[in-house]
Amino acid sequence: MTSDNPFLNDCQKRIEQKLLENLPAIDRLPLELHQAMHYAVMSPGKRIRPLLVYAAGHALGAASGDLDHQACALEYIHVYSLIHDDLPAMDDDDLRRGRPTCHVKFGEAMAILAGDALQSLAFETLGRSNASDSRKVRMVSTLANASGSHGMAGGQAIDLVSTGESLTVVELENLHILKTGALIRASVLLGAITASDDEEKIAILDHYAKNIGLAFQVVDDILDVTSDTETLGKTQGKDAAQDKPTYPSLLGLTESRERARQLCNEALESIREMGDAASPLRTIAHMVLNRVN
Ligand code: IPE
Ligand code: IPE
Ligand code: MG
Ligand code: MG
Ligand code: MG
Repeated sequence: MTSDNPFLNDCQKRIEQKLLENLPAIDRLPLELHQAMHYAVMSPGKRIRPLLVYAAGHALGAASGDLDHQACALEYIHVYSLIHDDLPAMDDDDLRRGRPTCHVKFGEAMAILAGDALQSLAFETLGRSNASDSRKVRMVSTLANASGSHGMAGGQAIDLVSTGESLTVVELENLHILKTGALIRASVLLGAITASDDEEKIAILDHYAKNIGLAFQVVDDILDVTSDTETLGKTQGKDAAQDKPTYPSLLGLTESRERARQLCNEALESIREMGDAASPLRTIAHMVLNRVN
């Protein structure tokens, strides 16, 4: 995703390099596993979670150089979740980021292992950050919680058992908060924790994060209806084809768009008094709402 914010443009370039640096070398054994990890991570993603790590850290005064490992950790977990989400046992998708999905390219077994290994790599990378031990412990537990059965994996489980069912708005919201919101929230929290122990400031950023986290999945659901496969880089119309519970299927497009707008406004409102340092976070809120893929 490109933006007119120079800080975020720098972060975009920076994260590509850091993601590569922290991956195992592609010529190291086992070759196929490392190639599958590279293939999935280095494919052209928007890197919204790393950008949130940098932007939240920046808002509270951390330098980008102190946020690299945290930013990589979030993207590694995210990519692991995408590899597994695309497997035949889950959404059974063959296109991701405009390319064949990891299991199409490397086979299911290697794709499962690439996801597993990326999850471990995320925590190993986080451990290499130069934050204090107490902040690092808090970050590890925040990320573990957001990834596990009370976060992303839990949301994915609810997604699977809810397929074909009709959910209430509250149930759907809970599903989206877990499967997507949790990692977005963890991105902001890791940035904030790196920079500060001020619980009030961390709570303000957390409120921002909860809102854009939910908005992100509402927009994902909308784009599945309104966009096209080439722009999305993933197969358009899959949610309806698989009878997934989504915002548009429950509320219609107009109300879903309105909900996404409300959530982004609420996010912006929570950081209104934070000054210039929070401007990358403001830009990201607009990017989440207006993105095309
Ligand atoms: C897709 O995430 C899966 C969701 C959680 C909605 P992104 O839209 O951030 O995907 P990439 O990383 O840019 O490919
Ligand atoms: C995926 O939600 C969320 C995670 C990967 C955890 P979706 O299934 O809607 O994501 P896409 O649309 O395949 O990217
Ligand atoms: Mg899914
Ligand atoms: Mg999917
Ligand atoms: Mg989707």
